[in-house]
Parts: sequence; C-alpha cells; structure tokens
Amino acid sequence: MRISVVLSVIGAVVTSSFLAAPATAQSPPPTMKAIVSHSYGGPDVLKYEDVPRPQPKQDEILIQVMAAGVNPVDTYIRQGYVGKMIGKQFPLILGMEVSGVVEKTGSMVSKFEPGDAIYSYLSFEEEGGYAQFAVAKESHAALKPKTIDFEKAAAVPLAATTAWQALVEKAQLSPGQIVLIHGGSGGVGSFAIQIAKVRRAKVIATASTQHQQFLKQLGADQAIDYTTTKFEDVVKDVDVVLGSYGVVKKGGIIVSITGQRDPGELEKHGIRGASLRAHPDAVVLEELAKLIDAGKIKPVVSQVFPLADAAKAQEQIASHHTLGKIVLEVAAAPKS
Ligand SMILES: NC(=O)c1ccc[n+]([C@@H]2O[C@H](COP(=O)([O-])OP(=O)(O)OC[C@H]3O[C@@H](n4cnc5c(N)ncnc54)[C@H](OP(=O)(O)O)[C@@H]3O)[C@@H](O)[C@H]2O)c1
Repeated sequence: MRISVVLSVIGAVVTSSFLAAPATAQSPPPTMKAIVSHSYGGPDVLKYEDVPRPQPKQDEILIQVMAAGVNPVDTYIRQGYVGKMIGKQFPLILGMEVSGVVEKTGSMVSKFEPGDAIYSYLSFEEEGGYAQFAVAKESHAALKPKTIDFEKAAAVPLAATTAWQALVEKAQLSPGQIVLIHGGSGGVGSFAIQIAKVRRAKVIATASTQHQQFLKQLGADQAIDYTTTKFEDVVKDVDVVLGSYGVVKKGGIIVSITGQRDPGELEKHGIRGASLRAHPDAVVLEELAKLIDAGKIKPVVSQVFPLADAAKAQEQIASHHTLGKIVLEVAAAPKS
C-alpha cells in the first residue's frame, strides 16, 4: 500500500527504474490504522490514527486483523483501573481478542505459516487488537474454527476461554451436576451455558426479562429473570455457581470472575471458592474450535462496529446489558 501512495504522488516525474528500486534502510517503517489512546479517560480518548506496525519477536506471529472482540476489561484499561495496575505505557492500543490471517512468523514459530486463518486471545502485554495488525505469542493462538466467519471467531477467545477455565478447569464440572450461571446472556455467560451443556450439566441461568428466551435458545434448562425473581427463592443445592453465596450445596464450589471470595463466608457455607483471572491458552482455543466446528458451541454476535467506531462499541459494552458479544470489523473478509 505504501508503494502505491508513492506512485500516485511522484509517478509523473520519476523514472520507472527509480520506482522499481527496493526499499532502503531509510524507508519509513510500515504503518497501520489503529485505535490509540494517549491518556486514560472516557471513550473520547480513543483516536483513529496511523501508527507503526508491530513486529513479531522470535516466538510471535504478526496477525493481519480481520475482526476484534470488545470486552468489559477494555473499558477498565481505558479508564486506568486495570491499566495503572499492570503498568501500561502510552500510546496504548486496546483489544485482547482477534481473528485474522498470519502475515509473518518469528524465527522460532513452528505451528503457523503466513496465510493461516487464526484466532487469538492476546495477553495484557500483547494487547493491541483494535488495529490492522497485532502480534501474539504462538502459544496464545490457534487455527480459526472453519465453520464460522472472522467476525464470529473474534468473539470467542477471551469470553469463551474465561467460561472454559471457570467451569472446566476450576470447577471441573461433570455430567449431571447443577450449575448456576449469572449473566447468562452476556459474553462470558452465553459461552458458559453452552460449555456447561457440552459437559452434560443441568444449567440454570439468570438475565433480564428481555433476554429470557435467549437463555433457553442457548440451552439453559431453567431461566431466571433477575428483575422479578430472587434466584435464592427458586434455586438451591447447586454444585457450581459462577458468582453468589446461599444456593451452593455443601462441598460445592463458587467460581468468581469478578473478584475475590470471602474465606469466612466460604467456611460458613461449607463450600469451596476459586477466583479466576482468565489467561490465554492455545490448547483451550483448539478445544473450543473443535466444539464450534462440531456445531456444539455457537458464538452470538449481536452488533458489529467499524474499527473507527470503537468508542461507540465501548459505550455499548459498558452498558453491561450486551446480548452475546460485540465485535469491531477491521478488514472486509469473505464470509466462510
Ligand atoms: N476474571 C476474568 O478473567 C474475567 C474475564 C472475562 C470477564 N470478566 C468479568 O465478568 C463480567 C461479565 O463479563 P461479560 O463479558 O460477560 O459482560 P457482558 O457481556 O456485559 O454481560 C453482562 C451480563 O450481566 C447481566 N447483568 C447486567 N446487570 C445485571 C444485574 N443487575 N444482575 C444480574 N445480571 C446482570 C447481563 O444480563 P442482561 O443484559 O439481561 O441484563 C449480561 O448477561 C464482567 O464484569 C467482566 O469484567 C472477568
């Protein structure tokens, strides 16, 4: 793209041999469009700019991003809550999950080659998905599920990995167990319901009135409207809960994705507790891809925004009432 710009500006006055000359050491580094923030703050700190393309380290791949998922954590980092804690530097490019095509591989990468369609959960260090190019460790990416398009694939990595690590790795959910999933209509919850059904558990899920039917469509055996019903009044003796006390039977487990558990409360109820900070893991992405291609898990994308409208997408995710997931379209790609 850079060469075509040069041609259009100076093509009338230079010779063709000059135009054919290879790029020199003085050539400016390749650039890309990205959503960049130069300070912490509201959605207005997100600017659509030209910035240098990242380069992959030895164990990394450079991804031409097709679509990027949007998550609540992006807004926490933008506002500085998480950003300050993890020592983020400006300029900052947000975005922790992407789908795209491998553009280039580092010298130690063996799993991928240029042209592979992949999806990736970017760590806090790699973060930079709201951009035309991003880098990820080989161990944080997997081949994209073949049966879904890039937009749906970008909705999977962070939210579905979180649901998997909570239910499968922390709670070791097994067939016949009862699980209560709070926020079943959101990003994490919509995957959690489907993963729990794959594990042949009985699923009870909560959401607001308008999302009750959606919970059933995802496979929930019982849907609870949190605006009209106290879940404690209709649920008891569950084995696993993503969230709250009072309904877990003795020996059961609470997995929290929103904060620490109180050890005193856990002991009082005779239950176990685990706090999860989800993390990228290619093995989980490979498992999820198999389940998606087998038709057992379907990502639900309720809205797609152009990359330049990242601020609007963040306003939507900050509502805490998003249906399924929202994504940014970064490049037009064939649907597959
Ligand atoms: N620990 C980790 O590693 C980790 C990873 C991912 C996410 N998280 C956190 O987990 C939370 C959920 O993430 P997400 O991506 O699923 O968010 P999301 O897509 O915004 O989903 C929010 C869900 O919460 C429900 N909800 C909203 N207000 C509620 C209320 N007053 N009572 C009960 N339910 C309510 C919504 O249902 P309605 O729309 O029907 O109201 C929706 O199902 C966020 O706080 C996020 O930061 C943590």
